[in-house]
Amino acid sequence: MIKNISVIGAGTMGNGIAHVFAQSGFSVTLVDVSSAQLEKALNTIGKNLDRQVGKGTITEEQKKSTLNNITTESVLNTGVSKADLVVEAATENTELKLKIFSQIDEAAPVGCILASNTSSISITKIASATKRPTKVIGMHFMNPVPVMKLVEIINGYATDKDTTDAIVSLSKQIAKIPCSVNDYPGFIANRILMPMINEAIYSLYEGVAGVEEIDTVMKLGMGHPMGPLQLADFIGLDVCHSILRVLHEGLGNQKYAPCPLLVNMVTAGKLGVKSGEGFYTYTAGSKDLVVSKSFAPKI
Ligand SMILES: NC(=O)c1ccc[n+]([C@@H]2O[C@H](COP(=O)([O-])OP(=O)(O)OC[C@H]3O[C@@H](n4cnc5c(N)ncnc54)[C@H](O)[C@@H]3O)[C@@H](O)[C@H]2O)c1
Repeated sequence: MIKNISVIGAGTMGNGIAHVFAQSGFSVTLVDVSSAQLEKALNTIGKNLDRQVGKGTITEEQKKSTLNNITTESVLNTGVSKADLVVEAATENTELKLKIFSQIDEAAPVGCILASNTSSISITKIASATKRPTKVIGMHFMNPVPVMKLVEIINGYATDKDTTDAIVSLSKQIAKIPCSVNDYPGFIANRILMPMINEAIYSLYEGVAGVEEIDTVMKLGMGHPMGPLQLADFIGLDVCHSILRVLHEGLGNQKYAPCPLLVNMVTAGKLGVKSGEGFYTYTAGSKDLVVSKSFAPKI
C-alpha cells in the first residue's frame, strides 16, 4: 500500500508531481536542497490549483486539502524516512542522481519503491547505486504534469514485476495513463522527440528557415500543439542538451550529437522559459510569443 510519497526536487517537474499525488489524497513530502525552490514550488502549485478552481475542475475544498497534503523538507534523509515511494525529480545529472539514490537507499524504509523521473539516464545504472535494484523503476511524467496524461514507466534490467505492477496501478489511481517500456537510452518518448527538436535547431542553424517558420510548419503541417523550438524552450534547453548527450553516448550514433547552436545557447545561459530567453523571449505576465532578438528576422 502506497500512502506516503516523497518527491525529490521541487523544480518544474517536482512541483507538478507533488501536485498530482497530493490532489489524489496521498501524503506528499516535497524535498529540495533549496528552500527558495520549495517556496516557489508551493506558490506555483497554489496558482495552478486556483486555475483548476477557476475552470470548475476542482472545488475550493479540494484545493485546500491538496495543499494540506504537502509538506516540505530540505534534508533528504528526513524527507524520505517514512516514504512508501520516492519519486526523484532532481536536476538531470548522472553523478547527482547516483549520489541521491545511494543516499535514499540508506534512509528510506526497506520496502520503499525508488522511482526516477529522469528523461534519459539509465534506470539500470541508477539502480546500481542502491542495494534494492528490483525496487528501482522509471516514472517519467510529462510537462506540465497536472495536464499531461502519460506516465512512461521504465523497467530497469533488474526491476521486478511487483514493482512495475505497483507503479502501473498507482499511475491509474492518479488518473494518468501508464505505458511500460524497457531501459534503453532515451526510452521511447525522448528517443523520438529529441532528434526532432535537434533537427529543428539544425534547420535554424543552417539558415533553412526562421524560428517562427519552423514552428509554424510543424504546428499547422503536422498538427503539433506547439512547434519544436517552442517545446525545446518549454522543456529547458539544458535538459534537451543533456538528453541528446545521453542518446549520443548510449547509442553511439553521430545522428544524436547536439547541434552546435544548442550547445552555444546552453553555454550562454539561454535555457528557454526558465531563464527568460531561448528561441523566444519570455516576459512575466505576458503570453505573447516573441522571437528572441538573436533570431529576429533582419529587415
Ligand atoms: N523539464 C521537463 O520538461 C522534463 C520532463 C520530463 C522529465 N524531466 C526530468 O525531471 C527531472 C527534473 O527536471 P526539471 O525540469 O524539473 O529540473 P529543474 O531544474 O526545474 O529542477 C530540479 C530541482 O532539483 C533540485 N535539486 C538539485 N539537487 C538536489 C538534491 N541533491 N536534492 C534535492 N533537490 C535537488 C534543484 O534545486 C531544483 O529545484 C530531470 O531528471 C529531468 O530530466 C524534465
